[in-house]
Amino acid sequence: MKKKITMTLATGLAAALGATILFQLPVRQAQAAEGESTGLSFLTYTADGKIVRPEPSLYRKWVYVGTPLTPNDMNDGEASFPEFHAVYMDPISFASFEKTGVYPEGTVLIKELSAVGAKEASSGTGYFMGEFTGLEITVKDSVRYKDEPGNWGYYSFGHKYPLKDEATMNRTASCNACHEKTAANNAQNLSKDWVFEQYYPMLSAARAALKKK
Ligand code: HEC
Repeated sequence: MKKKITMTLATGLAAALGATILFQLPVRQAQAAEGESTGLSFLTYTADGKIVRPEPSLYRKWVYVGTPLTPNDMNDGEASFPEFHAVYMDPISFASFEKTGVYPEGTVLIKELSAVGAKEASSGTGYFMGEFTGLEITVKDSVRYKDEPGNWGYYSFGHKYPLKDEATMNRTASCNACHEKTAANNAQNLSKDWVFEQYYPMLSAARAALKKK
């Protein structure tokens, strides 16, 4: 009996998976037909929808867009996202963004965290980057995240090494909601989607250049 239930479950799962693949094919095929791949081609997902942590040798060569800094010592000793946040955008989406000012389907943004290592250098007093500490990703995909606001999915591999090898999508309330509320739904910021573009000079400059054309 137990075996039968397992078999039925397995058959059901296979059918559901088949349906999902069939459902996704037209979109992905349409993109392929236009000779375009998207930022999604850089990511690997597990069968149960986790993202496999991308290698630094991949994303550290992407387009670097900016580095917000929330030092612990200015945030009651523990910033929610400590401390330097170096943000990279996949090159396929950046090329499209430069032409349109729109974050295209498949946009991947990676935020790599590192600690403040020193506060003094021969150049002066300040905040100097120390060790890498964490990694987070946001991805825009209208198929996989059709139920997420703005179609953005958020993942965290942790704020402390060793990082997780795979990350499950965070609940909408824990990441997406703040991005939706504070990055997207603000009158000056409507075109900027769920991205905190105002803190990334590379993206602001690309948008400004577009307006001049
Ligand atoms: C309270 C608001 C808030 C919450 C909650 C939040 N973020 Fe963000 N996030 C920000 C802000 C503000 C920035 C840009 C400035 C910075 O990095 O400090 C940002 C930047 C990012 C970026 C860089 C790309 C972009 O969209 O600007 C990623 C990736 C990211 N967050 C992932 C996450 C993940 C994953 C979670 C949940 C674990 C999360 N965020 C939760 C406010 C938030």
